Amino acid sequence: MLSRKIFGRRQTLLGLGGLAGIGASVIGTELNKQYKLRQIQRDSQNRNFKVTSNTALGQRAATKGLIYGAAVRQYALSSDTKLAESVVYECKMIVPEWELKWNYLRPTPTSFNFAPADWLADFSRRNGLLFRGHTLVWHEALPIWFPKTINSKNARQLLLEHITTVVKHYAGHIHSWDVVNEAIDPRDRRSDGLKNTPWLQFIGQDYIEIAFSAAAESDPNTLLVYNDYGLQYDTHEHEAKRNAVLKLLENLKSKDIPIHALGIQSHLSGYETRFNPDKFKKFLSEVASLGLKILITEMDVADNKLPSDIKFRDPIVAGVYEDYLSVALEEPAVISVLTWGLSDSYTWLSQNKPRKDQATVRTLPLDTQMRRKLAWNAIARAFDKATKR
Ligand code: XIL
Repeated sequence: MLSRKIFGRRQTLLGLGGLAGIGASVIGTELNKQYKLRQIQRDSQNRNFKVTSNTALGQRAATKGLIYGAAVRQYALSSDTKLAESVVYECKMIVPEWELKWNYLRPTPTSFNFAPADWLADFSRRNGLLFRGHTLVWHEALPIWFPKTINSKNARQLLLEHITTVVKHYAGHIHSWDVVNEAIDPRDRRSDGLKNTPWLQFIGQDYIEIAFSAAAESDPNTLLVYNDYGLQYDTHEHEAKRNAVLKLLENLKSKDIPIHALGIQSHLSGYETRFNPDKFKKFLSEVASLGLKILITEMDVADNKLPSDIKFRDPIVAGVYEDYLSVALEEPAVISVLTWGLSDSYTWLSQNKPRKDQATVRTLPLDTQMRRKLAWNAIARAFDKATKR
């Protein structure tokens, strides 16, 4: 009885000690975060985001031989006239954020619904904008029938039929296609760096080659792109991803697979400081040396961990835009910049990376009233600094 009591007390004491340890480390992490935030804030506060004119982003980019554009949603573009006006005014290219993904295009295994994407293609034509395709092969945004239907007997045919039908449907009207999206994931620990997806599982590792070849046959004149995220920071994870993506691109080129460009999504964080311009530039030039173009395809800057006061928040976001784009645009192979949305009214980050204080996220060039923000100035400045292609 006595020994049990003592044992019990010792355990409690040990438990309290452990708790105190956890408490100290939580406080330590919190202090580190606050310190980091103060540093980020200080660095961006005194920056000057002045621009020399009001010229729209698309026009500014065009004078340098670059293309600026944004992702759009059909429901928003068709109902919000202020958004539509801003898109036409600022952009030279649009890309459907949702409408060309399998879950939109493929209501059943045997049918296609092109209506929403066709509306956007038509909008681009009416307004003299380029139209970009996203995306033919991805492991996300698949229809509900997909897992129940796909197997190793039908996967190859299903993929070929999808690519052929969709690419032919827009042939002659499309600037570029993200043929394969996010196929690399070194965390899956395969020697080829490929992510374990249904496509890999049911077709095998040549599904990427099959996809590019089918796209090229269906539209020989469009730019065929491999698109991926997690490539920009100086972290082990991003380094591994850069290496694996390079390996994939080298392999495709060595086999003469029709691939023309790398799309770097560029979903950045306003809170991340581990950006190393030299390492990033080296990666870009290695991609370029394979004879590939580069597109910045889905840029935005998450502000979820930043202060709520716009006076502090906006310059941080803008600083990240300008620093990143200035480096990226130094590489002559970079031909275009797209942001993943134009206005803060329509950004996936409101759901994906919401702010704890419930404030509207401010991650894109225009605010919810379609007014230009410092992020707009930052992008404009990067285009102004860029050398002509
Ligand atoms: C996102 C959309 O923005 C969201 O609205 C949707 O719910 C999920 O997909 N990488 C991509 C894009 O290639 O297709 C993703 O778009 C964002 C990450």
